[in-house]
Amino acid sequence: MYLLGTGTCLLAPLLVCALAGCGASDEGMDGPSDAEILPGDPRFERDPALDVENISAAAEKRSHNMGQNCFGCHQPHGPGKGIFTTAGTVYAPSGAPVTGGAVELRTAGGGEGDLVLSVAIDGNGNFFTTEPLPFPDQALFFFLRSQDGEGTNEMPFPTISGACNLCHNEQRRILLE
Ligand code: HEC
Ligand code: HEC
Repeated sequence: MYLLGTGTCLLAPLLVCALAGCGASDEGMDGPSDAEILPGDPRFERDPALDVENISAAAEKRSHNMGQNCFGCHQPHGPGKGIFTTAGTVYAPSGAPVTGGAVELRTAGGGEGDLVLSVAIDGNGNFFTTEPLPFPDQALFFFLRSQDGEGTNEMPFPTISGACNLCHNEQRRILLE
């Protein structure tokens, strides 16, 4: 009780200060100013106008930030257009982005099971969608198909996250021949 009481006393003025936006001289001592609140921080206020559909299409080049974790910004506390349910970047073994084909989300491995959603790889090698997916309640398998249908690759186990580039960073890219 004693500790809790002390904590509340110390925190109360800081909170008031943060809400009221105290003078510049207090900045740094009383927590971050608006400009310092980074995407992903629960205090990041997202413009509701950004909550629109945003889905990749073959050959389109609207996307950007190849290889980065799209979910850093395209999420409820970020500045990206559309809240993605899955997104990532596909590379050829040479390291160049693969500009075509699709990522299939399925209920079983080996390109089998039900096709829950097929997401097109765009002209930059990115695929992304805001369509609803059963994550994190249900795990899905990810199966990749090249544009000509000849090349395939798959993740050898299912996951409950569509944030592909979070795990697939420069050490472990998503590859497709
Ligand atoms: C560092 C933050 C950040 C990251 C990381 C990021 N985005 Fe974005 N994205 C933005 C912002 C900001 C916008 C523009 C929002 C607006 O319209 O005001 C945007 C817009 C977009 C658009 C819409 C472009 C248009 O004009 O139609 C697409 C598509 C897109 N991002 C795809 C992606 C993909 C795919 C990834 C990951 C490979 C990604 N983004 C990673 C911040 C980010
Ligand atoms: C939670 C982390 C995680 C997420 C999220 C994730 N992956 Fe993976 N993925 C892995 C790991 C770990 C491996 C195994 C890598 C290895 O064998 O070296 C892998 C392997 C793969 C492979 C086979 C890699 C190879 O050797 O060619 C593909 C393809 C793949 N993932 C695609 C995807 C796609 C597409 C998504 C998003 C829809 C995704 N992954 C999301 C962790 C993840």
